Amino acid sequence: MGIMEYYTPTHVYFGKGAENKAGEVLKGLGVKKVLLHFGTGSVKKSGLLDRVEKDLDANGIGYTELGGVVPNPRISLARKGIELVKSEGIDFILAVGGGSVLDSAKCIGYGAYAGGDVWDYYCGKRKVEGTVPVGTILTLSATGSEMSDSSVMTNDETDPVYKRGVNTDFGRVKFALLNPELTYTVSKYQTASGSTDIMMHTLERFFHSGGGLDMTDRLAFALLKEVMDATPKALSNPEDYDARANLMWAGSISHNGLMAVGNDSRGDWSCHQIEHELSAEYDVAHGAGLAAIWGSWARYVLDTNRDRFVKLGEGVFGESDPVKTIEKFEAFFKSIDMPVDIAGLGLSFDEAACRRAALGVTFQDARTIGDFKVLNTEDIFNIYMMASGLK
Ligand code: NZQ
Ligand code: ZN
Repeated sequence: MGIMEYYTPTHVYFGKGAENKAGEVLKGLGVKKVLLHFGTGSVKKSGLLDRVEKDLDANGIGYTELGGVVPNPRISLARKGIELVKSEGIDFILAVGGGSVLDSAKCIGYGAYAGGDVWDYYCGKRKVEGTVPVGTILTLSATGSEMSDSSVMTNDETDPVYKRGVNTDFGRVKFALLNPELTYTVSKYQTASGSTDIMMHTLERFFHSGGGLDMTDRLAFALLKEVMDATPKALSNPEDYDARANLMWAGSISHNGLMAVGNDSRGDWSCHQIEHELSAEYDVAHGAGLAAIWGSWARYVLDTNRDRFVKLGEGVFGESDPVKTIEKFEAFFKSIDMPVDIAGLGLSFDEAACRRAALGVTFQDARTIGDFKVLNTEDIFNIYMMASGLK
Protein backbone atom coordinates (compact mmCIF):
# COMPACT_ATOMS: atom_id res chain seq x y z
CA MET A 1 0.00 0.00 0.00
CA GLY A 2 1.31 3.45 -0.92
CA ILE A 3 1.74 6.46 1.30
CA MET A 4 -1.30 8.70 1.62
CA GLU A 5 -1.24 12.24 2.94
CA TYR A 6 -3.86 13.54 5.34
CA TYR A 7 -3.49 17.22 6.20
CA THR A 8 -6.34 19.25 7.67
CA PRO A 9 -4.96 22.38 9.32
CA THR A 10 -8.30 24.25 9.34
CA HIS A 11 -9.48 25.40 12.75
CA VAL A 12 -13.15 24.41 12.89
CA TYR A 13 -15.69 26.03 15.21
CA PHE A 14 -18.93 24.06 14.98
CA GLY A 15 -22.32 24.74 16.53
CA LYS A 16 -24.97 27.36 17.19
CA GLY A 17 -23.54 30.86 17.13
CA ALA A 18 -20.16 29.79 15.67
CA GLU A 19 -20.25 32.80 13.32
CA ASN A 20 -20.06 35.14 16.33
CA LYS A 21 -16.46 34.10 16.85
CA ALA A 22 -15.32 35.84 13.65
CA GLY A 23 -14.15 39.11 15.20
CA GLU A 24 -12.41 37.45 18.12
CA VAL A 25 -10.65 34.88 15.94
CA LEU A 26 -9.53 37.48 13.38
CA LYS A 27 -8.23 39.71 16.15
CA GLY A 28 -6.31 36.78 17.56
CA LEU A 29 -4.69 36.34 14.15
CA GLY A 30 -3.63 40.00 14.17
CA VAL A 31 -5.81 40.87 11.17
CA LYS A 32 -6.21 44.59 10.39
CA LYS A 33 -8.46 44.70 7.35
CA VAL A 34 -10.74 42.08 5.85
CA LEU A 35 -12.19 41.58 2.39
CA LEU A 36 -15.76 40.50 3.10
CA HIS A 37 -16.65 38.30 0.17
CA PHE A 38 -20.22 37.09 -0.44
CA GLY A 39 -22.81 36.09 -3.01
CA THR A 40 -25.79 37.69 -4.64
CA GLY A 41 -28.13 38.34 -1.75
CA SER A 42 -28.77 35.58 0.80
CA VAL A 43 -26.37 36.94 3.45
CA LYS A 44 -27.89 40.42 3.21
CA LYS A 45 -31.43 39.07 3.35
CA SER A 46 -30.71 36.91 6.39
CA GLY A 47 -28.99 39.77 8.21
CA LEU A 48 -25.81 37.71 8.58
CA LEU A 49 -23.61 40.23 6.80
CA ASP A 50 -24.83 43.01 9.06
CA ARG A 51 -24.07 40.96 12.12
CA VAL A 52 -20.57 40.12 10.90
CA GLU A 53 -19.85 43.78 10.16
CA LYS A 54 -20.97 44.82 13.64
CA ASP A 55 -18.74 42.14 15.11
CA LEU A 56 -15.75 43.38 13.10
CA ASP A 57 -16.49 46.96 14.16
CA ALA A 58 -16.62 45.89 17.78
CA ASN A 59 -13.22 44.27 17.41
CA GLY A 60 -11.63 47.23 15.64
CA ILE A 61 -11.13 45.36 12.37
CA GLY A 62 -11.62 47.22 9.09
CA TYR A 63 -13.34 45.75 6.06
CA THR A 64 -14.23 46.23 2.42
CA GLU A 65 -17.20 44.46 0.85
CA LEU A 66 -17.10 42.50 -2.37
CA GLY A 67 -20.40 40.77 -3.12
CA GLY A 68 -21.82 39.33 -6.32
CA VAL A 69 -20.32 35.84 -6.43
CA VAL A 70 -22.57 33.60 -8.53
CA PRO A 71 -22.77 29.79 -8.47
CA ASN A 72 -19.95 28.45 -10.66
CA PRO A 73 -17.91 31.50 -9.59
CA ARG A 74 -16.36 33.66 -12.27
CA ILE A 75 -12.74 34.64 -12.63
CA SER A 76 -13.69 38.19 -13.66
CA LEU A 77 -15.09 39.02 -10.22
CA ALA A 78 -12.11 37.38 -8.52
CA ARG A 79 -9.82 39.68 -10.51
CA LYS A 80 -11.65 42.65 -8.99
CA GLY A 81 -11.10 41.12 -5.57
CA ILE A 82 -7.39 40.74 -6.26
CA GLU A 83 -7.13 44.43 -7.13
CA LEU A 84 -9.06 45.40 -3.99
CA VAL A 85 -6.84 43.32 -1.73
CA LYS A 86 -3.75 44.94 -3.20
CA SER A 87 -5.03 48.52 -3.32
CA GLU A 88 -6.71 48.56 0.10
CA GLY A 89 -4.07 46.90 2.23
CA ILE A 90 -6.30 43.93 2.99
CA ASP A 91 -4.63 41.17 4.98
CA PHE A 92 -7.44 38.59 5.26
CA ILE A 93 -10.31 37.34 3.09
CA LEU A 94 -13.49 36.25 4.84
CA ALA A 95 -15.87 34.22 2.68
CA VAL A 96 -19.45 34.47 3.94
CA GLY A 97 -21.56 32.10 1.87
CA GLY A 98 -21.48 28.76 0.08
CA GLY A 99 -18.78 26.91 -1.82
CA SER A 100 -18.77 29.34 -4.72
CA VAL A 101 -17.98 32.29 -2.46
CA LEU A 102 -15.26 30.33 -0.72
CA ASP A 103 -13.67 29.14 -3.95
CA SER A 104 -13.66 32.70 -5.25
CA ALA A 105 -12.05 33.86 -1.98
CA LYS A 106 -9.32 31.25 -2.36
CA CYS A 107 -8.73 32.40 -5.93
CA ILE A 108 -8.40 36.01 -4.77
CA GLY A 109 -5.98 34.87 -2.09
CA TYR A 110 -3.69 33.13 -4.60
CA GLY A 111 -3.80 35.98 -7.09
CA ALA A 112 -3.19 38.75 -4.56
CA TYR A 113 -0.30 36.90 -2.98
CA ALA A 114 1.80 36.41 -6.08
CA GLY A 115 0.65 38.65 -8.94
CA GLY A 116 0.55 37.57 -12.57
CA ASP A 117 -2.48 35.93 -14.17
CA VAL A 118 -4.35 33.95 -11.51
CA TRP A 119 -5.94 31.73 -14.19
CA ASP A 120 -2.46 30.24 -14.76
CA TYR A 121 -2.96 28.23 -11.57
CA TYR A 122 -6.24 26.80 -12.80
CA CYS A 123 -4.98 25.77 -16.20
CA GLY A 124 -1.84 24.25 -14.77
CA LYS A 125 0.67 26.77 -16.15
CA ARG A 126 1.97 27.72 -12.68
CA LYS A 127 1.79 26.20 -9.22
CA VAL A 128 0.14 28.22 -6.46
CA GLU A 129 2.93 30.01 -4.61
CA GLY A 130 1.08 31.13 -1.48
CA THR A 131 -2.06 32.89 -0.42
CA VAL A 132 -3.45 35.83 1.47
CA PRO A 133 -5.09 33.97 4.38
CA VAL A 134 -8.75 32.98 3.98
CA GLY A 135 -11.44 32.00 6.48
CA THR A 136 -15.14 31.27 6.13
CA ILE A 137 -18.55 31.55 7.67
CA LEU A 138 -20.29 28.78 5.75
CA THR A 139 -23.98 29.06 4.82
CA LEU A 140 -24.51 25.93 2.71
CA SER A 141 -23.55 22.29 3.29
CA ALA A 142 -22.20 20.87 0.07
CA THR A 143 -18.75 21.27 -1.39
CA GLY A 144 -16.56 20.73 1.64
CA SER A 145 -14.42 23.60 0.36
CA GLU A 146 -14.23 24.74 4.00
CA MET A 147 -11.78 21.90 4.66
CA SER A 148 -10.68 20.86 1.17
CA ASP A 149 -7.57 21.90 -0.74
CA SER A 150 -9.59 22.87 -3.83
CA SER A 151 -10.86 25.94 -5.54
CA VAL A 152 -12.95 25.57 -8.68
CA MET A 153 -13.38 28.61 -10.93
CA THR A 154 -15.10 29.38 -14.19
CA ASN A 155 -13.27 31.46 -16.77
CA ASP A 156 -15.97 33.65 -18.28
CA GLU A 157 -13.44 35.60 -20.34
CA THR A 158 -12.98 32.83 -22.91
CA ASP A 159 -15.28 31.26 -25.47
CA PRO A 160 -16.07 28.48 -24.70
CA VAL A 161 -15.97 29.13 -20.96
CA TYR A 162 -13.78 26.80 -18.95
CA LYS A 163 -14.32 25.46 -15.46
CA ARG A 164 -11.15 24.28 -13.78
CA GLY A 165 -10.05 23.34 -10.29
CA VAL A 166 -6.73 23.69 -8.56
CA ASN A 167 -5.67 21.62 -5.56
CA THR A 168 -3.05 22.97 -3.18
CA ASP A 169 -2.45 22.96 0.55
CA PHE A 170 -2.58 26.78 0.34
CA GLY A 171 -6.29 26.20 -0.28
CA ARG A 172 -6.84 24.82 3.24
CA VAL A 173 -8.46 27.77 4.95
CA LYS A 174 -7.36 29.14 8.34
CA PHE A 175 -10.71 28.70 10.01
CA ALA A 176 -14.26 27.59 9.28
CA LEU A 177 -17.13 28.87 11.40
CA LEU A 178 -19.86 26.27 10.99
CA ASN A 179 -23.28 27.07 12.40
CA PRO A 180 -25.88 24.65 10.96
CA GLU A 181 -28.64 27.19 11.69
CA LEU A 182 -27.24 29.39 8.93
CA THR A 183 -28.31 26.73 6.43
CA TYR A 184 -32.01 26.83 7.44
CA THR A 185 -32.77 29.22 4.56
CA VAL A 186 -31.11 27.14 1.84
CA SER A 187 -33.71 26.19 -0.81
CA LYS A 188 -34.87 22.62 -1.24
CA TYR A 189 -33.09 22.32 -4.57
CA GLN A 190 -29.76 23.59 -3.21
CA THR A 191 -30.13 21.41 -0.10
CA ALA A 192 -30.65 18.31 -2.24
CA SER A 193 -27.92 19.32 -4.65
CA GLY A 194 -25.56 19.90 -1.72
CA SER A 195 -26.34 16.50 -0.21
CA THR A 196 -25.63 14.84 -3.55
CA ASP A 197 -22.27 16.59 -3.72
CA ILE A 198 -21.45 15.44 -0.19
CA MET A 199 -22.29 11.84 -1.09
CA MET A 200 -20.28 12.05 -4.29
CA HIS A 201 -17.12 13.26 -2.54
CA THR A 202 -17.18 10.03 -0.57
CA LEU A 203 -18.25 7.85 -3.51
CA GLU A 204 -15.51 9.26 -5.74
CA ARG A 205 -12.95 8.31 -3.10
CA PHE A 206 -14.51 4.90 -2.46
CA PHE A 207 -13.97 3.98 -6.10
CA HIS A 208 -10.21 3.77 -6.44
CA SER A 209 -7.94 1.40 -8.28
CA GLY A 210 -5.90 -0.15 -5.52
CA GLY A 211 -5.94 -1.31 -1.95
CA GLY A 212 -7.74 0.49 0.84
CA LEU A 213 -8.64 0.36 4.50
CA ASP A 214 -11.74 -1.33 5.82
CA MET A 215 -11.89 1.42 8.44
CA THR A 216 -12.15 4.08 5.71
CA ASP A 217 -14.76 2.06 3.80
CA ARG A 218 -16.90 1.76 6.92
CA LEU A 219 -16.64 5.50 7.58
CA ALA A 220 -17.82 5.98 4.01
CA PHE A 221 -20.88 3.76 4.57
CA ALA A 222 -21.76 5.63 7.76
CA LEU A 223 -21.46 8.98 6.03
CA LEU A 224 -23.58 7.92 3.07
CA LYS A 225 -26.27 6.47 5.33
CA GLU A 226 -26.33 9.59 7.48
CA VAL A 227 -26.69 11.91 4.49
CA MET A 228 -29.48 9.77 3.07
CA ASP A 229 -31.20 9.87 6.45
CA ALA A 230 -30.75 13.57 7.19
CA THR A 231 -31.54 15.02 3.75
CA PRO A 232 -35.26 14.14 3.63
CA LYS A 233 -35.56 15.46 7.19
CA ALA A 234 -33.95 18.77 6.24
CA LEU A 235 -36.18 18.97 3.17
CA SER A 236 -39.40 18.39 5.06
CA ASN A 237 -38.38 20.55 8.01
CA PRO A 238 -35.72 23.10 6.96
CA GLU A 239 -35.19 24.08 10.60
CA ASP A 240 -34.41 20.58 11.83
CA TYR A 241 -31.16 21.42 13.63
CA ASP A 242 -29.90 17.86 13.95
CA ALA A 243 -30.46 17.11 10.27
CA ARG A 244 -28.76 20.36 9.22
CA ALA A 245 -25.89 19.73 11.65
CA ASN A 246 -25.30 16.21 10.40
CA LEU A 247 -25.27 17.42 6.81
CA MET A 248 -22.88 20.23 7.60
CA TRP A 249 -20.32 18.04 9.32
CA ALA A 250 -20.74 15.32 6.68
CA GLY A 251 -19.94 17.96 4.05
CA SER A 252 -16.70 18.88 5.74
CA ILE A 253 -15.37 15.40 6.45
CA SER A 254 -16.47 14.03 3.11
CA HIS A 255 -14.00 16.28 1.33
CA ASN A 256 -11.18 16.93 3.80
CA GLY A 257 -9.26 13.79 2.85
CA LEU A 258 -10.48 11.52 5.66
CA MET A 259 -12.42 9.36 3.24
CA ALA A 260 -9.30 8.51 1.26
CA VAL A 261 -6.90 7.65 4.08
CA GLY A 262 -5.35 4.28 3.34
CA ASN A 263 -6.42 4.30 -0.30
CA ASP A 264 -3.77 3.80 -2.92
CA SER A 265 -5.02 6.88 -4.74
CA ARG A 266 -7.05 10.01 -4.12
CA GLY A 267 -9.99 8.28 -5.83
CA ASP A 268 -11.65 8.20 -9.21
CA TRP A 269 -13.15 11.69 -9.71
CA SER A 270 -14.47 10.97 -13.22
CA CYS A 271 -18.00 12.06 -12.37
CA HIS A 272 -16.66 15.40 -11.16
CA GLN A 273 -14.75 15.94 -14.39
CA ILE A 274 -17.74 14.90 -16.48
CA GLU A 275 -20.02 17.15 -14.43
CA HIS A 276 -17.75 20.21 -14.49
CA GLU A 277 -18.11 20.28 -18.25
CA LEU A 278 -21.89 20.56 -17.80
CA SER A 279 -21.74 23.32 -15.19
CA ALA A 280 -19.16 25.22 -17.26
CA GLU A 281 -21.17 25.13 -20.44
CA TYR A 282 -24.75 25.12 -19.12
CA ASP A 283 -24.39 26.64 -15.61
CA VAL A 284 -26.21 23.78 -13.86
CA ALA A 285 -25.91 23.27 -10.09
CA HIS A 286 -22.86 21.07 -9.45
CA GLY A 287 -24.60 18.49 -7.22
CA ALA A 288 -27.54 18.11 -9.59
CA GLY A 289 -25.11 17.57 -12.46
CA LEU A 290 -23.39 14.82 -10.48
CA ALA A 291 -26.70 13.06 -9.80
CA ALA A 292 -27.49 13.21 -13.51
CA ILE A 293 -24.25 11.43 -14.41
CA TRP A 294 -23.50 9.01 -11.60
CA GLY A 295 -25.81 6.11 -12.56
CA SER A 296 -24.56 6.08 -16.16
CA TRP A 297 -20.95 6.21 -14.99
CA ALA A 298 -21.60 3.38 -12.52
CA ARG A 299 -23.19 1.11 -15.13
CA TYR A 300 -20.37 1.85 -17.57
CA VAL A 301 -17.57 0.98 -15.12
CA LEU A 302 -19.34 -1.77 -13.16
CA ASP A 303 -17.46 -4.69 -14.69
CA THR A 304 -14.08 -3.14 -13.89
CA ASN A 305 -14.50 -4.35 -10.32
CA ARG A 306 -17.95 -5.66 -9.39
CA ASP A 307 -16.72 -6.62 -5.93
CA ARG A 308 -16.30 -2.98 -5.05
CA PHE A 309 -19.93 -2.32 -5.92
CA VAL A 310 -20.96 -5.39 -3.93
CA LYS A 311 -19.08 -4.08 -0.90
CA LEU A 312 -20.69 -0.66 -1.26
CA GLY A 313 -24.18 -2.11 -1.62
CA GLU A 314 -23.77 -4.41 1.36
CA GLY A 315 -22.32 -1.62 3.48
CA VAL A 316 -24.98 0.95 2.66
CA PHE A 317 -28.13 -0.97 1.78
CA GLY A 318 -27.51 -4.58 2.83
CA GLU A 319 -27.76 -5.28 -0.92
CA SER A 320 -25.37 -7.65 -2.67
CA ASP A 321 -26.63 -7.17 -6.23
CA PRO A 322 -24.55 -4.31 -7.69
CA VAL A 323 -27.15 -3.37 -10.32
CA LYS A 324 -29.76 -3.00 -7.60
CA THR A 325 -27.31 -0.90 -5.60
CA ILE A 326 -26.97 1.54 -8.48
CA GLU A 327 -30.76 1.63 -8.77
CA LYS A 328 -31.08 2.30 -5.05
CA PHE A 329 -28.79 5.32 -5.22
CA GLU A 330 -30.77 6.59 -8.20
CA ALA A 331 -34.04 6.02 -6.35
CA PHE A 332 -32.66 8.10 -3.49
CA PHE A 333 -31.66 10.93 -5.84
CA LYS A 334 -35.15 10.86 -7.37
CA SER A 335 -36.74 10.90 -3.92
CA ILE A 336 -35.02 14.23 -3.19
CA ASP A 337 -35.93 15.61 -6.63
CA MET A 338 -32.49 15.30 -8.13
CA PRO A 339 -32.17 14.36 -11.80
CA VAL A 340 -30.80 10.97 -12.79
CA ASP A 341 -30.17 11.88 -16.42
CA ILE A 342 -29.19 14.88 -18.50
CA ALA A 343 -32.78 15.58 -19.54
CA GLY A 344 -33.56 16.00 -15.84
CA LEU A 345 -31.20 18.99 -15.86
CA GLY A 346 -33.44 20.61 -18.44
CA LEU A 347 -30.91 19.97 -21.22
CA SER A 348 -31.48 18.05 -24.41
CA PHE A 349 -28.29 16.42 -25.60
CA ASP A 350 -27.88 14.95 -29.07
CA GLU A 351 -24.90 12.92 -30.26
CA ALA A 352 -22.98 16.04 -31.28
CA ALA A 353 -23.46 17.62 -27.85
CA CYS A 354 -22.19 14.41 -26.21
CA ARG A 355 -19.13 14.42 -28.47
CA ARG A 356 -18.38 18.07 -27.82
CA ALA A 357 -18.71 17.65 -24.08
CA ALA A 358 -16.50 14.53 -24.07
CA LEU A 359 -13.78 16.38 -25.98
CA GLY A 360 -14.12 19.25 -23.51
CA VAL A 361 -13.46 16.89 -20.61
CA THR A 362 -10.31 15.46 -22.18
CA PHE A 363 -9.07 18.89 -23.31
CA GLN A 364 -9.58 17.88 -26.95
CA ASP A 365 -8.28 14.36 -26.48
CA ALA A 366 -5.15 15.45 -24.62
CA ARG A 367 -5.78 13.54 -21.38
CA THR A 368 -7.65 10.67 -19.75
CA ILE A 369 -9.58 10.85 -16.48
CA GLY A 370 -10.45 8.41 -13.71
CA ASP A 371 -8.66 5.92 -11.52
CA PHE A 372 -11.13 3.10 -10.74
CA LYS A 373 -11.44 2.92 -14.50
CA VAL A 374 -9.36 5.17 -16.72
CA LEU A 375 -11.62 6.84 -19.29
CA ASN A 376 -10.72 8.29 -22.66
CA THR A 377 -12.79 10.57 -24.90
CA GLU A 378 -14.73 7.63 -26.36
CA ASP A 379 -15.61 6.27 -22.92
CA ILE A 380 -16.78 9.68 -21.75
CA PHE A 381 -18.80 10.10 -24.93
CA ASN A 382 -20.50 6.77 -24.18
CA ILE A 383 -21.33 7.89 -20.64
CA TYR A 384 -22.85 11.15 -21.89
CA MET A 385 -24.82 9.12 -24.46
CA MET A 386 -26.13 6.80 -21.74
CA ALA A 387 -27.04 9.75 -19.52
CA SER A 388 -28.87 11.27 -22.50
CA GLY A 389 -30.86 8.10 -23.15
CA LEU A 390 -29.15 7.67 -26.54
CA LYS A 391 -27.38 4.38 -25.66
O1 NZQ B 1 -25.50 34.06 -3.85
P1 NZQ B 1 -26.38 33.80 -2.70
O2 NZQ B 1 -27.48 34.79 -2.59
O3 NZQ B 1 -25.64 33.62 -1.40
O4 NZQ B 1 -27.17 32.43 -3.00
C1 NZQ B 1 -26.55 31.15 -3.01
C2 NZQ B 1 -26.49 30.52 -4.40
O5 NZQ B 1 -27.50 31.03 -5.22
C3 NZQ B 1 -27.45 30.21 -2.25
N1 NZQ B 1 -27.20 30.16 -0.81
C4 NZQ B 1 -26.04 29.91 -0.16
N2 NZQ B 1 -26.23 29.89 1.17
C5 NZQ B 1 -27.56 30.17 1.37
C6 NZQ B 1 -28.16 30.35 0.12
N3 NZQ B 1 -29.47 30.66 -0.03
C7 NZQ B 1 -30.19 30.78 1.10
N4 NZQ B 1 -29.68 30.61 2.34
C8 NZQ B 1 -28.37 30.29 2.52
N5 NZQ B 1 -27.89 30.09 3.74
O6 NZQ B 1 -27.18 28.92 -2.80
C9 NZQ B 1 -26.83 29.06 -4.17
C10 NZQ B 1 -25.68 28.13 -4.48
O7 NZQ B 1 -24.52 28.54 -3.80
P2 NZQ B 1 -23.08 27.93 -4.19
O8 NZQ B 1 -22.08 28.54 -3.28
O9 NZQ B 1 -22.87 28.04 -5.65
O10 NZQ B 1 -23.30 26.38 -3.85
P3 NZQ B 1 -22.26 25.29 -3.43
O11 NZQ B 1 -21.84 25.47 -2.03
O12 NZQ B 1 -22.88 24.01 -3.81
O13 NZQ B 1 -20.97 25.56 -4.36
C11 NZQ B 1 -20.89 25.07 -5.67
C12 NZQ B 1 -19.55 25.39 -6.31
O14 NZQ B 1 -18.45 24.74 -5.63
C13 NZQ B 1 -17.70 23.95 -6.56
C14 NZQ B 1 -18.74 23.58 -7.58
O15 NZQ B 1 -18.17 23.13 -8.78
C15 NZQ B 1 -19.50 24.89 -7.74
O16 NZQ B 1 -18.78 25.79 -8.56
N6 NZQ B 1 -17.00 22.85 -5.87
C16 NZQ B 1 -16.00 23.17 -5.04
C17 NZQ B 1 -15.26 22.21 -4.37
C18 NZQ B 1 -14.14 22.56 -3.49
N7 NZQ B 1 -13.68 23.80 -3.51
O17 NZQ B 1 -13.60 21.72 -2.77
C19 NZQ B 1 -15.55 20.79 -4.52
C20 NZQ B 1 -16.80 20.47 -5.24
O18 NZQ B 1 -16.67 19.23 -5.85
C21 NZQ B 1 -17.25 21.47 -6.25
O19 NZQ B 1 -16.68 21.27 -7.52
ZN1 ZN C 1 -18.29 18.06 -5.77
